Amino acid sequence: MTRPAPAIRKTAPPRFAAPTDGRLDGAMRAAYVRDGFLILEDMVSPADCDALQGRIAHLIDGFDPTIARTVFETRTQSHANDAYFLESGEAIRFFFEEGAFDAKGRLTVPTALALNKIGHALHDLDPVFSRVSRNPYFAGLAAALGIAQPLLLQSMYVFKQPQIGGEVGWHQDSTFLYTRPLSAVGFWLALDDAALANGCLTAIPGGHRGPLRHRFRREGYRTRMDDLDSTSWSAIPPAALGAARGTVIVLHGLLPHASAANRSARPRHAYTFHLIDGAAEYPDDNWLRRPTLPLRGFA
Ligand code: FE2
Repeated sequence: MTRPAPAIRKTAPPRFAAPTDGRLDGAMRAAYVRDGFLILEDMVSPADCDALQGRIAHLIDGFDPTIARTVFETRTQSHANDAYFLESGEAIRFFFEEGAFDAKGRLTVPTALALNKIGHALHDLDPVFSRVSRNPYFAGLAAALGIAQPLLLQSMYVFKQPQIGGEVGWHQDSTFLYTRPLSAVGFWLALDDAALANGCLTAIPGGHRGPLRHRFRREGYRTRMDDLDSTSWSAIPPAALGAARGTVIVLHGLLPHASAANRSARPRHAYTFHLIDGAAEYPDDNWLRRPTLPLRGFA
């Protein structure tokens, strides 16, 4: 989904020192209710950021790079391509940047610099990602946000590589992680300092108070995007959600957000995971299914 991009607003959005137990004070709550996002600085320690990045390097070391060619060659074979994605809800799968291949399907950079993301069950299948994702301050944050029965639904390690990291267009996360009633909330952790130059998040402050515009639905091994509401995006200029390493940004499931391509020489790694409320219905036409791996909360 794209939208005309008015100039990014000059004023930086409010940011807060992260509470050690995840509990939110009045000012933090007010910012989240007003804006639909909440920037919490120094929430994750440098040691835990190092642990996640070290673990990703380890996973990449154990990854068979010949699959990269397969991924390239199957890009036009939608079934195989879709299956690799659609079955990733209970797996750890590797997704490449379009710009990482030459015309013959050869990687033009090392695997570690060619990946777009790894997902979507790192938080359950990898012990280090599970430990950090289930740190008590995240559980406290979920409780403070009023999520009665938090379930960790999906996780992604996002690379936003130097020079080739692609843009992510305007969207609402509840489009892809749909419950009745809506309950998806994202926790986005900066593993590198993120600014506009290397493709930090941008968001429309208050845009979460509008309706869900689209829904991404699965039919067997096909997916489709349904239009739900044609209300245009707010004309409010987007804010740049710059974030130093260790910062966590809470994202309301209805918040319109995006990120530009990274054309800089700096990486912009991030780890993001999403919760839903187990008290809500999770329709089985969501793209993400977990037939063999039951969802877990913070315990
Ligand atoms: Fe998103």
